[in-house]
Formats: sequence, C-alpha cells, structure tokens
Amino acid sequence: MNSNLSTPDVLLWVALPYVSFTILVVGLILRHRYDNFGWTSRSSELYEKRILRIASPLFHYGMLAVVGGHVVGLLIPESFTSSLGLSDRQYHLTAVTAGLGAGVATIVGLLLLIYRRRTVASVFAVTTKNDKAMYIFLLGAIVLGVLTTVLGSGAVGKAHNYRADVSPWFRSIIFLHPKPQLMSGAPLSYRVHVIGALLLFMIWPFTRLVHALSAPAQYLFRPYVIYRSKDSQGLGNRERQRRGW
Ligand code: HEM
Repeated sequence: MNSNLSTPDVLLWVALPYVSFTILVVGLILRHRYDNFGWTSRSSELYEKRILRIASPLFHYGMLAVVGGHVVGLLIPESFTSSLGLSDRQYHLTAVTAGLGAGVATIVGLLLLIYRRRTVASVFAVTTKNDKAMYIFLLGAIVLGVLTTVLGSGAVGKAHNYRADVSPWFRSIIFLHPKPQLMSGAPLSYRVHVIGALLLFMIWPFTRLVHALSAPAQYLFRPYVIYRSKDSQGLGNRERQRRGW
C-alpha cells in the first residue's frame, strides 16, 4: 500500500469496503439463520396490481441489466476485452448506451413503486420506517450511478475511463490486496456513487432487499409465508397460525 495516502483515503477505500462487505455477508447469514420466515419481499401485490404490473418489471429487469453491466465493467479487466478486439471506445459506447438505458428504466420503475407506496392507502399502511430508509439508500445509489455514467461519458465535461481506476480498485478489495490510491484519484462522482453503494450494502441484510439474493430459487424450497390481517381485537392470529407446508 502507498505510504503517502491520507487517513481518510485509507478509511474510505480500505476500511469502509471491508466493513461494508463483512456486515453484508455476516448480516445475511444471521438473518437467514434466525429470521428465515422474514426472508421475503413482503409482497404487496394483494393490495394493488395495476401500477405494480408496470413498475415491478421495469425496476427488476432494469436492475438485472445494471448488475450485469457491473459484473462486466468491474470484474473483467480492460486487457481482456482489448484482446477480443474490442477497442476502449467501442466498449465505452456500448457500456454507456446499455448502462443508461438500464439505469433510466430502473429509476422510472423505482419512482413508480415509491409513488404507488405513497398513494395507495393499503400499500402505504404496510410500509414501515425500515422500508422508507431502504428506498432512500436504494434510490440514492441508483441516481448517483446514472449521474456518474452521464458525467463519465464525456457528454458533459471530460470523459473518464473507470476501468483504469474504479474497476482495478474493486478487484483489489476482492482479492484482499487493497489499492486505495486508485480510488482516491477517481473523479468525485465515482467516489460518491461507490460510497452510496457501500452504505446500501450495510443496510441490505436488515431490509426487504434480502429477497433479491434468493428469488426465485430459494422460495421453491421453503413453505409459503402466509399473510393475514390482524383480527378486530388486535390480538393477531397467533393461536391459529401454523408455519409449514
Ligand atoms: C462497490 C460497488 C459498486 C461500484 C464499484 C460501482 C461502480 C459503478 C461505475 C464505475 C459506474 C459507471 C459505469 C459507466 O460509466 O458505464 C456505475 C454506474 C451505475 N451504478 Fe454502480 N457501482 C457499485 C454498486 C452499485 C449498486 C449497489 C447500485 C444499485 C443499487 C449501482 C447502480 C448503478 C447504476 C444504476 C449505474 C448507471 C447505469 C449503469 O451503468 O449500469 N451501483 N457504477
């Protein structure tokens, strides 16, 4: 590691990612172990379907494409795509076009999902403080990502090749050989987006987002979660409720 690095650089680009990934992994293991039946998206499909039918696929398919873009952009080295005959210009043109399409679809889908939560009374009634905090972090990370793509594309200001700093930094963290100097020199928008993403990973295990890691495969192997309204005395259905197939 470079000895000229400042303490904030080491905290942000070495300590924060490891703390974030540790909370993510340990949190997911503990949640899976001790709250297996809380491992659900807490679907609100029963309350409203019209907006959900458009918003949910827009968000989920958009997000799937965003994740695919991140896997390619962050994990595959520039040298590999060059060896396939793909020039840097061709790569970035494809990445920016596909990335922006996916990012915009994700944002529109998410904004519609939030609008539905706020305006459909029955959906709003089952929305917790935890959900609201999660939406802020999720929307924040996504908006910052799209902003980064726009700014880095060169459409406004100078274009930036994130595969020369952000991507090798990300791989250096994964391979336990951190190179924070790569990230400390990256443009501000990239640094802010990555911090937003690392914060999102830290809350991930404690929110409804856990369902993203199992849907749909794991749902096949455990009994259904049964949604019931509380009875009029507010005592719940504890006596009658039996978990299992
Ligand atoms: C440490 C983890 C992450 C890193 C290093 C990272 C890095 C990047 C980079 C370098 C870009 C610019 C891509 C380009 O210009 O073509 C980007 C874009 C983007 N990021 Fe991330 N990101 C991370 C996590 C996330 C997470 C968790 C989300 C969403 C929940 C997210 C959402 C987006 C979106 C929507 C875009 C714009 C569209 C796209 O290019 O796919 N990112 N990210």
